[in-house]
Amino acid sequence: MIRSCTERERERERDMEMHREAEEEDEGQRRQRSLEEALEVKSLRRIISAYLNYPDAADEDVKRWERSYRKLPPAHKALLSHYPQKFHKLRQCISANSYFIFSMLHAFEPPLDMSQDIDITEHVNNDMPNDHLFSSERNICCAPTTSMSGELCSSVCTGAAHCTESGSIHNKIERANSEEETRAIHAPEQGNSPLETVSHVERHEHDNNEVPDSNGNVSSMPGNCSCPSLQLDVPLVDVDKVRCIIRNIVRDWAVEGKKERDECYKPILEELDALFPDRCMESPPACLVPGAGLGRLALEISSMGFISQGNEFSYYMMICSSFILNNTQIAGEWTIYPWIHSNCNSLSENDQLRPVSIPDIHPASAGITEGFSMCGGDFVEVYGESSQIGAWDAVVTCFFIDTAHNIIEYIEIISKILKDGGVWINLGPLLYHFADTYSQEDEMSVELSLEDVKRVALHYGFELEKESTIETTYTTNSRSMMQNRYFAAFWTMRKKPMEKEHSVL
Ligand SMILES: C[S@@+](CC[C@H](N)C(=O)[O-])C[C@H]1O[C@@H](n2cnc3c(N)ncnc32)[C@H](O)[C@@H]1O
Repeated sequence: MIRSCTERERERERDMEMHREAEEEDEGQRRQRSLEEALEVKSLRRIISAYLNYPDAADEDVKRWERSYRKLPPAHKALLSHYPQKFHKLRQCISANSYFIFSMLHAFEPPLDMSQDIDITEHVNNDMPNDHLFSSERNICCAPTTSMSGELCSSVCTGAAHCTESGSIHNKIERANSEEETRAIHAPEQGNSPLETVSHVERHEHDNNEVPDSNGNVSSMPGNCSCPSLQLDVPLVDVDKVRCIIRNIVRDWAVEGKKERDECYKPILEELDALFPDRCMESPPACLVPGAGLGRLALEISSMGFISQGNEFSYYMMICSSFILNNTQIAGEWTIYPWIHSNCNSLSENDQLRPVSIPDIHPASAGITEGFSMCGGDFVEVYGESSQIGAWDAVVTCFFIDTAHNIIEYIEIISKILKDGGVWINLGPLLYHFADTYSQEDEMSVELSLEDVKRVALHYGFELEKESTIETTYTTNSRSMMQNRYFAAFWTMRKKPMEKEHSVL
C-alpha cells in the first residue's frame, strides 16, 4: 500500500509528539524525585535537630522548676531544702540521657547527603500545591497521653524516601524494593554487629557539639550528625518526640519493660509458635511486622526461627532501633533516666530519678534467623507494591492498625501480601491516630469500630480463628500514679484462598 505524503507527515508528527511527551514525563519524574529527596533531607535535619536539642530543652524544664522553687516564700522553701540537690541530680540524668542520644547520632549514617542545600520552595512553587506538600503531622502514639508526629529513616536506609515537613517519611516504593537500593536494615551477624550501611553523607569535622557522658563530663561529639548546621531550632513538640522514644526504649529494651512485653509480645509469640510448629531453619516462614517501633518484637520473632522483617516509618524510631540492634556491645551497656521529664504522679523522688539500664539483652546474641531486617517506609507505599503480593506467611501487627488514615486500606494490603492460608495476628486498641488532628488540613481519618474492622477483614478473605481481649499499657511508667490501661483486641485471622476480586463491601 502506498501511503500518501500527508499520512506520512501525520505519522511523523505523532512520533514527535510521543517523543516530546516521554521527555516531559522524564523531566517530571526527575523533578519529583529531587523534590522527594529535598523533603526527606529537610525532615531528617529536623529530626536530628530534635535529638540535638534534647539537652537544652530538658535543661529548660529544670530551670523552670528552679524558678518556681525560688519564688517560694522562705518558710515553704525550707520544707524543700533537698530541692537544689534534686535539680543537680536531674541535670546529671539529662547528661546521661544526652550521652546516649549523642552516641546514637554519632553512629547514625544518614542515607542522604545532608550537606545539600535544597530550596524546597522552588520545587513547591513549580511542582505541587503547598497544601499537598506540608501536610500531615503524623500522630505516632508513644504514651497514651502523648502523641508524636512521625518521620524517619535509619542509618541503613539507602533508598529515597519522601517526607512531609513534619517528618513523616513515605518510602519510595520503586527504590525501596529494588535490590540495589534496599532500605532494609539488616540485623547484626551473630557475635558481632553492624549491617552493611551505605552513607551518602559527607562527614563533617565540626566538633562543636559537646557531649556529656554519664558522669556529666563533657567532651566533643565527632561524627555524622555533629554538624552545627544540623542543630536548628525546632519546636518543643519535636523534642517531646525524643522523650517518647526514651519511653519506647523502656518498653522494648529494658527489664522494666518486661511486663508490657509479656502482655503484648508474648501472646503473639506463643501464637506464632503454635501456628508454625514444624518450621525449620532450611526454609523458615516469613513474618512481617508493620509499625515495628524499636524492633524488639521483630527480633523475638526472628529468634524463634522466622524470617522476620520489621517495617517502620519513623526516623526517630529507626535511628534508635538501628543503634540498639547494630551497635550494642553488651547487655546493659547504657544507663538512661526515662522518667525525669515529669514531676507529675510521682510517688517519690527516687522513682522519678531511677536509672534504667539498656538493652536488657545483647541483640547480636539473641539467636536471630538469617534474613532479619528492618525496612523503613510507609507500610501502604512499601507493601502496596505488586511485588509484595502473597509474599508473607504471617503478618503481625501490635499497636499498629489504628495508625492508619484508612484502616480498610491496611486490611486490604495485609490480605494481599499474605499467602493463601497465611495468618494475621493483631494486638492493640483502636486509638485512631488521626482522629483528633485539628490541623488546617482536612486529614483523612476513618475510624471503624472493632465490629466493623472484623467485618472488613472477613470481606478481604479472612477467617477469624481466635479472639480475646488483653489488658495492657503502652510505654507506661510502672511507678506512676497514673496508668492508662487498654483493653486491647487480640486476634488470629487466616486468609482463605481468594475466589474472586472483592470490590464492593
Ligand atoms: C503505637 S507504635 C507501636 C510500636 C510497636 N509495634 C510496639 O508495640 O511498641 C506504632 C508504630 O507504627 C509506626 N507507623 C505508623 N504509621 C506507619 C506507617 N504508615 N508505616 C509504617 N510504620 C508506621 C509508628 O512510627 C510507630 O512506631
